[in-house]
Amino acid sequence: MLTPVLSRNWGDADSFTLAGYARHRGYEALPKALAMEPDALIQLVKDSGLRGRGGAGFPTGMKWGFIPQGPDGQGAKPHYLVVNADESEPGTCKDTPFMMANPHALIEGVIIASYAIRAKKAFIYIRGEIVHVTRRLQHAVAEAYQAGHLGTDIHGSGFDLDIVVHAGAGAYICGEETALLDSLEGYRGQPRLRPPFPATHGLYASPTVVNNVESIASVPSIVLGGAQWFGAQGTEKSKGYTLYSLSGHVKRPGQYEGPLGLTLRQLLELGGGMREGHELKFWTPGGSSTPLLTAEHLDVPLDYEGVAAAGSMLGTKALQCFDETTCVVRCVLRWTEFYAHESCGKCTPCREGTYWMVQILQRMENGNATEEDLVTLLDTCDNIFGRSFCALGDGATSPIVSGVQLFRQEFMDHINGTGCPFDPVASTVFAGAHA
Ligand SMILES: Cc1cc2nc3c(=O)[nH]c(=O)nc-3n(C[C@H](O)[C@H](O)[C@H](O)COP(=O)(O)O)c2cc1C
Ligand code: SF4
Repeated sequence: MLTPVLSRNWGDADSFTLAGYARHRGYEALPKALAMEPDALIQLVKDSGLRGRGGAGFPTGMKWGFIPQGPDGQGAKPHYLVVNADESEPGTCKDTPFMMANPHALIEGVIIASYAIRAKKAFIYIRGEIVHVTRRLQHAVAEAYQAGHLGTDIHGSGFDLDIVVHAGAGAYICGEETALLDSLEGYRGQPRLRPPFPATHGLYASPTVVNNVESIASVPSIVLGGAQWFGAQGTEKSKGYTLYSLSGHVKRPGQYEGPLGLTLRQLLELGGGMREGHELKFWTPGGSSTPLLTAEHLDVPLDYEGVAAAGSMLGTKALQCFDETTCVVRCVLRWTEFYAHESCGKCTPCREGTYWMVQILQRMENGNATEEDLVTLLDTCDNIFGRSFCALGDGATSPIVSGVQLFRQEFMDHINGTGCPFDPVASTVFAGAHA
């Protein structure tokens, strides 16, 4: 069931070094790619069916193909590759351990992808708080320069590439690709109006591809294994292998790499199941922005189509599992506090709405809410969803709307009782804090 490719060397003590990566065919894809025409590489990635692993599942090869090419294959403006390593969504935790364990796979992917889109400069925009990962990545980039994999005339191919590792300041919104570009340019990280799209007007108003860490790191194995090999894994429209992040009340949380389309039931079996004596109450398929699912959905295939058919989104495959001891209201409140804190403030529905949703959920949690509050809460979600400037606003409504849909009685119990029935002590603390 498991098909370790991205994680194949994670068990080695030196997996993060160039020598450790080289033992597992590291940098073998590079000469093969540099011997190909850039357009042939783009076609290879298109044929493989690789879809972006940053959440939306947009076809990676198609995105590369949007970069305008001049007669010299370069166009009037420079091209840029930007790797999105901001990973800040609650529950999403794959790119960070990946870069700790296998940074060279990302670097090899960056070189190949840059060559394909004819970029001479690539940026890795990494979440500001993860200083240890930034250092590891910087060290790996230095090793790659020393080995001649980066710099000018890489291995005599005539291709030049420099990589800049840029640490953000720890803002979730800077994971949104256009906010990321603004932040990289030195501005406050807020989403840009589209069109124009980054493919034509991205970094410094130049053609830019923004891809997730896992998307780019998958490229070397596609070059080595071929499009057919990659496409033979996964499901019809969601091809290849991926990292599933199992977390929460499970016996063995962690990263599990397997083909797209596995089910949570299968992954829980691998993870030893829920903790002893407890059962699954609800879970997120792809981080806190994806609508909640329950034990009824244990057999939903975890691919883009299967999860959408179940009423949610595959997102980042961050499978957060909560057992019956978890208060859904408290959990949703905690997530909503995160969105209110991270809202960039650019648009009114999200800036104001997330603030008020926190106020209402706090009232519910401490036993001061009315039934009308529940109506107002859902109405606020309705006014945010589809009316916000970027997807953060939409995402903020997902746990609330799905939580009420699945557990309305629990919300009502908070309203009709004296606060959280799960944790009377906590509800007293809340009541005190907001008295
Ligand atoms: C609020 C918000 C945060 C995001 N955070 C990330 C992130 O940390 N990493 C990421 O790859 N994509 C993130 N995305 C999605 C990116 O905008 C973009 O779709 C993605 O980087 C494209 O890469 P892919 O095509 O390889 O999936 C975020 C989107 C939003 C709206
Ligand atoms: S939806 Fe929220 S995060 Fe996105 S632009 Fe509006 S205020 Fe900023």
